[in-house]
Amino acid sequence: MNTGCGSPSELKTVISILDWMRRNNFSPKSDLPVPVRKGTQDGFCLKPCSKAVLCDLDKGTMEAFNKCDENIHILHKDISIAIIEWLDVPPLSSKMLQPELIGIEQYGQVEPIVLRIKNILKEYDQEHDLLKEMLQNAEDAGSTVCSFLVDMRQHKDSPESLIDPGMASCHGPALWSYNNECFTDEDFHNITRIGTASKEKQVDKIGKFGLGFNSVYHITDVPSILSGKYLLIFDPNVTHLKKYIHSVTNPGIKLNLYEHRRLIQKFPGQFNPYNGIFGCNFKISTGENFYYEGTLIKLPFRTPEEAAVSGISSKYYNQKHIMALVDSFKQTSKDLIIFLKNRAKLLVFMMKKKDGFP
Ligand SMILES: Nc1ncnc2c1ncn2[C@@H]1O[C@H](COP(=O)(O)OP(=O)(O)OP(=O)(O)O)[C@@H](O)[C@H]1O
Ligand SMILES: [Mg+2]
Repeated sequence: MNTGCGSPSELKTVISILDWMRRNNFSPKSDLPVPVRKGTQDGFCLKPCSKAVLCDLDKGTMEAFNKCDENIHILHKDISIAIIEWLDVPPLSSKMLQPELIGIEQYGQVEPIVLRIKNILKEYDQEHDLLKEMLQNAEDAGSTVCSFLVDMRQHKDSPESLIDPGMASCHGPALWSYNNECFTDEDFHNITRIGTASKEKQVDKIGKFGLGFNSVYHITDVPSILSGKYLLIFDPNVTHLKKYIHSVTNPGIKLNLYEHRRLIQKFPGQFNPYNGIFGCNFKISTGENFYYEGTLIKLPFRTPEEAAVSGISSKYYNQKHIMALVDSFKQTSKDLIIFLKNRAKLLVFMMKKKDGFP
């Protein structure tokens, strides 16, 4: 096959032969030699049809492409549309989207979210840190009440009544944290941005690093936040909400319960445990929209089964561990209340296994 540069008359001859083949209904084989661009705009050489592409990109992009790929050749510009269609040559842009062909693929650094959380927990190394962090966030949000409830109940709702059967393990003992202010749209955004110092310019705020919330992962793998219209559920391991999480880069879901109250009726088991907790009521009458006045954070204690597969922590919480945690809360809460600016009322309640609603 000619690898040098052909003359204009040779080009004309080759094109005429291709056109003759087209008009006589020959099927072009993949190794059929076709004129491709070489050197100048007019120069050409012959290459197998399977390695030719049609130029559909601007000059700059094309030049960059030419430099980095030797196996793809641009069809000569003098070839007629009829011949191009007959050859069925693909456009150059389609090849650019196939990284294995041009040798360039998207390849940046990533930090798996589970690993990031695990490392944050090393910095916030005391499990009772979470009490302080929740209290600080409630204070920053301007709330005047921040309460905690240790709920030892075990719910037995059928898996079909949950938003995902994987959520069943979150229906045992849990720590609830309540404050009387709603998340703003910005707060919903900020909480997904780990390590963003969103309160940096607000000197009156305690939060500095955009990390503190993650201390909740000491005790749970699946924290959720009910605030105003929304319920947010994080599942960094992607073990509980597989039905809905398609990308591990932002593993969680946000439900708009105000606009879609049918979610409450469709998954009653998911919402039952909330009823009666810090004024929460999912039993709404027809025509009413759901709205929770405040913020209710649910932290279901990590079970032994979850701990066995969790990428975040292997520590699980049985009754003994939970009681030890409550004791450490009692110790730290005395010091905490002193530094709070709004003097938010801090209350810790306990709900036994057989208790009804508080
Ligand atoms: N109870 C809450 N009410 C309103 N917004 C909250 C609450 N908890 C967390 N957020 C939002 O989530 C963001 C992240 O919270 P996080 O505690 O991780 O970081 P921070 O408070 O900004 O800084 P720091 O790491 O120093 O605590 C907050 O900036 C806030 O916007
Ligand atoms: Mg904080």
